[in-house]
Amino acid sequence: MLYKAISKTLAVVIVAIVIIAIVAGVAIYMYYLTPRGPTKLVFIVIGKSVHPYWSVVEAGVKKAGQELGVDAIFWVPSKEDVPAQLSTMDSYIAQKVAGIAIAPSDPGAATPYINKGLQQGIPVITIDTDAPQSNRLVYLGTGNYKAGWLAGLVAWQLAKEKGYIKPGATIKVAMLTGSLTAMNSLERMAGFKHAIMNCSVKDPDIKGNINIVWLGPYNDQEDPTQALNLALSVLQANPDLTIAFGVYAYDGPAWAKALKQAGFPPGKVILVEFDVTSDNVPPLVEGYALATIGQRQYFMGYYGVKLLYNMTKYGVEQALKQFIPGYPNNKIYDTGVDIVSTKHIEFTAPTGEKIIVLSLDEYKTLAQKLGIDPSLLGLS
Ligand code: BGC
Repeated sequence: MLYKAISKTLAVVIVAIVIIAIVAGVAIYMYYLTPRGPTKLVFIVIGKSVHPYWSVVEAGVKKAGQELGVDAIFWVPSKEDVPAQLSTMDSYIAQKVAGIAIAPSDPGAATPYINKGLQQGIPVITIDTDAPQSNRLVYLGTGNYKAGWLAGLVAWQLAKEKGYIKPGATIKVAMLTGSLTAMNSLERMAGFKHAIMNCSVKDPDIKGNINIVWLGPYNDQEDPTQALNLALSVLQANPDLTIAFGVYAYDGPAWAKALKQAGFPPGKVILVEFDVTSDNVPPLVEGYALATIGQRQYFMGYYGVKLLYNMTKYGVEQALKQFIPGYPNNKIYDTGVDIVSTKHIEFTAPTGEKIIVLSLDEYKTLAQKLGIDPSLLGLS
């Protein structure tokens, strides 16, 4: 009796083991047989701060990702944040992503991270602002010295038209920026300053006979609240301010808001902004900002991802040769800028350059031609 019961239990156990083995075997067989697509390539683009400017870069990143069928991830800190940028980059290096584009807020601090990524076989490029001391493969973005220079030429012209530039006059020029380490900020300010100083010497009506008082640069660390407070305090201390320069995208709007709050009539201070975004267009339309330098940041995102992808597909050297004019001697791709105002203006600067300022409508048409949706730029 007992023997019979034991052998019955044993039989049940054996049958159960056989069934489990068959099910597991089939599952393993199915797992290896099921066709799976190759895992998607992952590319990372690291920006500098939350702003409509960067949303346009992101749109370019996403568009390239869609076209290529890859994962194109865009990341920004809320305001200038060097440690957050670098720890994010480090974690993506550890994940062995297929390529990284970064806009380093501090090129010196970013250099070891950029080089580390490259040493581990990950292509790394810079966009928007460069880190030329690093081994980054290429910089894709605005030529910022030149762009700042253009801003300075326009500021001089507009100030002259207003009657502020006269022999023996004193003019006050203030610069508000979001970084004192990022190269784009430093280059823009240098270009702007040199342009105004050159104009003061070369303008035949002035010949150096003018006193220029430089205020700042004031650093708001890409924080709009700080930018507004700084602009307000500069205006309070200098009600006779002649020229205000908004070095980063939200600096122009911060100046405009401060001018409005402090009761300045639109156009009294010559405000020149950077960028054409939903944040920068209203100060132009209201007359507080008189011109802006429009970057083509959509292409920093779009071509950034495309170039990194080509590097993984055709090899780094081949991709760079195809993409960068003059490579390997040249490792910079200038995405270009446009000068924009509410109306079309043409003039010859005292430095001899012929300058064309596009109206908002002309700029909208240009954006459409380039394949950028104007509503992304705040132009409806
Ligand atoms: C600059 C960026 C900056 C952005 C935000 C742009 O003009 O190119 O580096 O992060 O403004 O304000």
